[in-house]
Amino acid sequence: MQKARTIQNPVDRVGGIRATEAARPLVQVLADTSDKLSSVRSILEEKFTVAGERLDADSRLTQVPSAIVVRAELRDIDNIAAIKKRAGKLAKARKRIFLLEHTSHVGISQAYALGATLVLPGTVNRIKLLAALTDPPDGATAPSGGAKQPDNAVETAATAIASMFMSVTLGQPLDVDGTRDAGRQIADRITQHGLSEWLMTVRRHHEGTYQHCLLVTGVAIDFGLSLGVGRADLERLYTAAMFHDIGKAQIPLAILDKPGRLDAEERAMIETHPAAGFAFLKGHDKISPEILDAVRHHHEFLDGSGYPDGLCAESIGDIVRILTISDIFAALIEHRHYKPTMPRNDAYNILCGMSGRLEKALVRSFKQVALTR
Ligand SMILES: [Fe+2]
Ligand SMILES: [Fe+2]
Repeated sequence: MQKARTIQNPVDRVGGIRATEAARPLVQVLADTSDKLSSVRSILEEKFTVAGERLDADSRLTQVPSAIVVRAELRDIDNIAAIKKRAGKLAKARKRIFLLEHTSHVGISQAYALGATLVLPGTVNRIKLLAALTDPPDGATAPSGGAKQPDNAVETAATAIASMFMSVTLGQPLDVDGTRDAGRQIADRITQHGLSEWLMTVRRHHEGTYQHCLLVTGVAIDFGLSLGVGRADLERLYTAAMFHDIGKAQIPLAILDKPGRLDAEERAMIETHPAAGFAFLKGHDKISPEILDAVRHHHEFLDGSGYPDGLCAESIGDIVRILTISDIFAALIEHRHYKPTMPRNDAYNILCGMSGRLEKALVRSFKQVALTR
C-alpha cells in the first residue's frame, strides 16, 4: 500500500482536506454533480482521506493522490474536457477508477481513453469500490510513485478491446495492428508469469464483456503454448481470441451483462454476434481468412448443434476448436459481482460433459491448462 505523502504546508487546507487527516491514503473524487460527489465521499471517508471536487470547478488539489475516483456522465463533452484538463494529475495517481452509471461500449471505451485503470459500470457498489481501492496494485513490486504503470499488459489489452468495440459502434477504422500487439503482450506476460496470474488480475480489474475477451485470450494463449503450437499459429490464436466477440459491439450491454437468464428474444439477439463480427471484419486487408473463420464459427459444435451455420466436425478447423474450448471455459470462470466465481475444476468438468460437441482429445489436452497451469 502506498503511503500518504506528507503535506508540505500543514496549515493549508488542500482541496478540502485538513492536514491532520493526511495519515490515511489520499483519494481524490471528481464528479459532475454535488449529489454524486457527496455519495462517493460518504463511501470513501470511512477508510481514506478524501478530497472532492466538481468537474466544473477549478482544480484545487496540490498533492498527488494515491487514487482518483471519477463519477461523471461521459456522454457530456464538457465533462470529458474537464477530465482532460486534469490529465496530468490523473496520470500520476496509481489507480484511476471510473464509476459509470449509464454503461455502454462507448462510455467504457471513453473511460479507458481518458486513462481509467478500472471501470466499474452500473450502480455504485460500496464493497467493490472499497476493495478496488484497497487492493494492492498489480506489479506492486514496482517502485512506488515511479513512472512505470503497474499493470501494462492488462491496461494495454483492455484499452485495445475497448477501442475495438468503440470503432465498431462509431463506424471508425479498426486498429488491427494495435489489437494484435496487445495480444502479443498478453502472450509474453503469460509465458513469463503463467495463466493463473493473468486470470486473477483480469477478474479483479474488469467486468463483463471486456473481462471475457481478456480471459478468453489468456486461456487460448496458454492452451496454444501447452499444445506447443508454433509462433505463427499462436499469433493467429491470440488475434482470433481478441476479435472473437467483436460482433457483440452491436448488442446493448444491458443484454450482454444481464444477470440471470435471457429470454428467447435476447438469446436470439446474442446469437447474431458471430455473423455480425464476421461481416464487420470481412474485407479488412489485415484480417486473415483463419481469423474470419474463427470469429464466425467459435460457437459451432462438432455435432452440428452450434450457430450460426450449424457446421459439423470436418468443417471446423483447429484454431476454431481451440478457441471454442477456451471461450466456454473462460465464460464459466469469469467473475461477476452477482454470482460466485466457478472453480476451474468445476468448469473443466462441464467441458468434459460436452462430449460429442467438443473434440474429446482436445478437451483431454486442455486439462492441465484448466487445472494446473
Ligand atoms: Fe462469442
Ligand atoms: Fe466469447
